[in-house]
Formats: sequence, structure tokens, C-alpha cells
Amino acid sequence: MAKKEVPARQTPINAQPRIHQRAGEIQAYGTVSHGLPLELEEPVRLEMTEQLNLLLADTMTLRDLYKKSHWQVAGPTFYQLHLLFDKHYAEQVEIVDEIAERIQLLGGISLAMAADVAETTRIERPPRGREEVPVQISRLLDAHQIIIGHCRELAGRASKLGDDGTNDLVVSDVLRANELQVWFLSEHLVDAPLVHAEEPSARKAG
Ligand SMILES: [Fe+2]
Repeated sequence: MAKKEVPARQTPINAQPRIHQRAGEIQAYGTVSHGLPLELEEPVRLEMTEQLNLLLADTMTLRDLYKKSHWQVAGPTFYQLHLLFDKHYAEQVEIVDEIAERIQLLGGISLAMAADVAETTRIERPPRGREEVPVQISRLLDAHQIIIGHCRELAGRASKLGDDGTNDLVVSDVLRANELQVWFLSEHLVDAPLVHAEEPSARKAG
């Protein structure tokens, strides 16, 4: 049998890793790729990915606000809040991934880096220092309120445009998880007695 000729390589094999590489972007932020067989028009995917990126930036900020609260919490409720804040943090991590991957699935580009998130989020920036528990919880509730309000608007818009997948994600995964977390947080701001039940006569009318 004749020996098969192996074509010569244009560049010799080199074991040296090619580090420090840079090149132009393969897709610009704020665009959607063409030709995806999703039966969703490009303008719909553009609008949905833009809105989902806002939701993503706010969710990433809320996620980080939970970790800040988890680390910095102080006082008699330290242990339970330390655990609760981390549980909510882990749930928000999941939500972040679901929103980001929905954006990519629609042909868009997800925000990813902290500096870009900080420029985009509508959630008020907290101080670097430590705050007391009622303020921590209030900040978290304010952040949830922004996200929940946006979810309601976005779910309606997605449904109107025929993007049922985004509607389902926003309602089932984002809105409902945020509603539940709001309940768990807000019960901590009820001024209920810890040890001594209040005498009925001590309660002020109205
Ligand atoms: Fe921890």
C-alpha cells in the first residue's frame, strides 16, 4: 500500500502557551445574534435582553447586598440572620444564572462584571461600613421592591410580545422567589415583644 503523505504544518508545534492574547469582540454588547430558530423576531429579543440585563444588574446587586449583610450583621439576632441572609444569597445566585443564561439564549450578551453592574443597577449604593439590623433589612426590602416592580412590568410586556419563556422565568423564578424572601425579611421588622408580653392597657388606642 502506498504511504499516505501527511501535509506539512504551516507552523511547527510549540509547547509554549500563548498567553496575554487579546482580540476584538466577537459580538458587541446590546446586540442580538441573528438566525436563531426561536420564532422570536429580532426586535423582541433586543427589547427583552435589554430589560433582562436591567433585572440582572439589580439581582446581582441584591445578591451582593445579602453577602454584605451576612458578613456584617450584629446583635442578638446575629445567628439566625447570618444564616437567613446566606440562604437568600444562595437563592439569588441561582436567579442570576437563570437570567444571564436567558439573555444569552435569546442571542444577547449578559452583563457580568461588577463595574458594569454598578453603572446599571437602580438599587441605592450602601456605605462600606456596618449598619444596624433594621437598616440592613430595610435596604434589602427596598432592593426587593425595585426588582418585584420591574418583574411585574416585564412579565406583562414579555407576554404581550409573545416571549412566553421570559414571562415564565420572570414570574416563576424571579418574582415568586423575591416575594417569598420579602415575607421572611419583613417579619423581622415587626416590633413584637421578645420576653414580656405587653399589657392590653398599655397599648395606645389608634
Ligand atoms: Fe459565610
